[in-house]
Amino acid sequence: MTRILSGIKPTGNLTLGNYIGALKHFKDFQEQGEVFIFIADLHALTLPIDPEVLRQNTRDLAAFYLASGLDPEKTTIFVQSAVPQHAELNAILQNYLYMGELSRMTQFKEKSAHMKDSAIGLGLFAYPVLMASDIVLYDADIVPVGEDQVQHVEITRDLVNRMNKRYGEKTLVLPNYKINKVGARIMSLSDPTVKMSKSDPKGDIFLKDPVEVIRKKIMSAVTDSGSEIYYDKENKPGVSNLLTIYASLKEISIEEAVAHFQGYRYGDFKKEIAQTVIDELEPFQKRYQEILASGSYLEVLRKGAKKASQIAEKTLKRVQNAVGLLDTDE
Ligand code: AMP
Ligand code: TRP
Repeated sequence: MTRILSGIKPTGNLTLGNYIGALKHFKDFQEQGEVFIFIADLHALTLPIDPEVLRQNTRDLAAFYLASGLDPEKTTIFVQSAVPQHAELNAILQNYLYMGELSRMTQFKEKSAHMKDSAIGLGLFAYPVLMASDIVLYDADIVPVGEDQVQHVEITRDLVNRMNKRYGEKTLVLPNYKINKVGARIMSLSDPTVKMSKSDPKGDIFLKDPVEVIRKKIMSAVTDSGSEIYYDKENKPGVSNLLTIYASLKEISIEEAVAHFQGYRYGDFKKEIAQTVIDELEPFQKRYQEILASGSYLEVLRKGAKKASQIAEKTLKRVQNAVGLLDTDE
């Protein structure tokens, strides 16, 4: 059966970008194969984070996963650090990705650009090794991610090919990334030339924003000169971003979205986008609140980690054997 795996870092307030680029689609994979969705808390440590904030973000993310429609009967939902095999495999795989290729990773370059060398942790540099470990531990065939993570899946593929060439074709399973046709890169509302991201609160819509805040943010989103509504990323990045948000939430094509807004003025266009986002997020927020208050996510995470660990252990053993670590139980 096809294995599908993805994760999100509990590093901050989740945004509409995370929702459209990743979260919203995870549940659709439940009908296509065996799904593993985890909280990448070890990855969250790669940049400074307050311990209490990290813990609360982790609870939030678990509740968000469940609120998004993931069914714990069908999907294994777990916290990365609760499955020790991730760190164990990481210790092996770190020897097969090299300084040169790691230093060319866009995410590393972006995140470390404004940091002094003396403040950049090794974990930030080695980020793709842990991510590769996450993926191959479950023999994942498909990794659904937003555009910004494609490079990390590609380096995982390089690693898998390298290992398999050296230790035999069946050592690791080669994963493929999957990005959405529409919405793989939602842009900031205040500057539609940069990605909407958790670390840039300007122009973000957070999944926890009250409805009226969401409306206000969308009504004051940057639009472009002119008054016509059509899709042109270069010359009309603001309008194009709003069209993308609309098309993703309505699950229609960009062309259909453009056709829908023919003859609209910017004001009415934004009003309808705001209402569409609210119609999607309001019930989602209600479910999230209920799950968080009930604490039901804890049992889901415990069961998930147990199941994940059993599967991960098999892969870990296979790799340990392949590279020549002595198994004293044999
Ligand atoms: P992160 O926030 O980096 O943990 O990302 C979690 C997931 O959300 C990844 O699959 C990202 O590719 C995706 N994602 C993050 N920001 C955006 C965005 N602005 N547009 C679309 N997808 C995004
Ligand atoms: N790096 C991903 C992000 O920032 C999170 C992540 C960690 C992940 N491990 C993964 C995503 C494995 C997919 C598969 O979004």
